[in-house]
Amino acid sequence: MTKKIPVIFDTDPGIDDAMALIFLNACQRLEIKGVTTVFGNASLAQCTNNALYLCERFSIDAPVHAGADKTIMGVPKDDFPTLVHGADGLANINAAPESRQQGIEPASAFLIESAEEYANELVIIAVGRMTNLAVAIRESSEFVSNAKEVILMGGAVSVPGNVTQWAEANVFGDPEAADILFASGIPLTLVGLDVTMKTIMKEQYIQDLASRCGDAGHLLSQITPYYLNSYLGRTGVNGFACHDSSAVAHAENPEIQEMETGTLSVVLKGEQRGRTVFMKDENGEGLHSLCTGVDAPKLLKTYHEYLVRTYG
Ligand code: BDR
Ligand code: CA
Repeated sequence: MTKKIPVIFDTDPGIDDAMALIFLNACQRLEIKGVTTVFGNASLAQCTNNALYLCERFSIDAPVHAGADKTIMGVPKDDFPTLVHGADGLANINAAPESRQQGIEPASAFLIESAEEYANELVIIAVGRMTNLAVAIRESSEFVSNAKEVILMGGAVSVPGNVTQWAEANVFGDPEAADILFASGIPLTLVGLDVTMKTIMKEQYIQDLASRCGDAGHLLSQITPYYLNSYLGRTGVNGFACHDSSAVAHAENPEIQEMETGTLSVVLKGEQRGRTVFMKDENGEGLHSLCTGVDAPKLLKTYHEYLVRTYG
């Protein structure tokens, strides 16, 4: 049997984060070595609580380490997207872990140590603000050389943003952290709105899936109606974009998306603050990859099959 890819999931659960975590747990090529949390869809404390709850409920035997509760510039945040994810970040189900507790080390220390332990192998799937990664990069130059790749759900290069006309939420929430990551030298793949908005999970798809995948299905039926409702209210579509699970899908099978190689940067000032800019490199030598297309039916089929296989 081929060796599994060691993965850390850096997350702000979050309804789609929760959906991505149960998908990641069902991916046979990937092995979850840890979960690190960051403020974003809710406060750090709430996101950490939710991560612990999900790991306990789905027997994900990986440590959970809490990270940043403010931006890399030290700005605290207290207005969270409650209309999208609920006041508790998980559709107001008020999840409470019974026994799981967070690790003592902060997320950045855990990231640095894990990159050393799995040198040139560790893949970090980052689906929230990049603050934990930015802290790790600042604290350790070895982290940069040890980490194999960051697969990031974030940014919008050729499509409009979802917070401003220019910026996507995970980048807009801490642009300086994104800037530190993009400039760090760590190989990076951006799975942004350019592709995540092309894969839509419709109500019928979710209902069918929920009826076939045991307790994961029960979770879906608990948390997705709230998410569907927020999309319906904002877009008129009875379905939601597959954001964080698209980054997991890339880690499991990069061929599911089309990619271009180049260099990413982020706008830090003015009305375009948080905008991600991609300069294509015709020689194919750039350190960054941008997902530009996706086989959406295949991604939806994979998500469905993996959940039924694992939890059904
Ligand atoms: C991203 O923002 C968050 O609300 C989601 O969890 C996802 O990571 C989409 O822009
Ligand atoms: Ca997220």
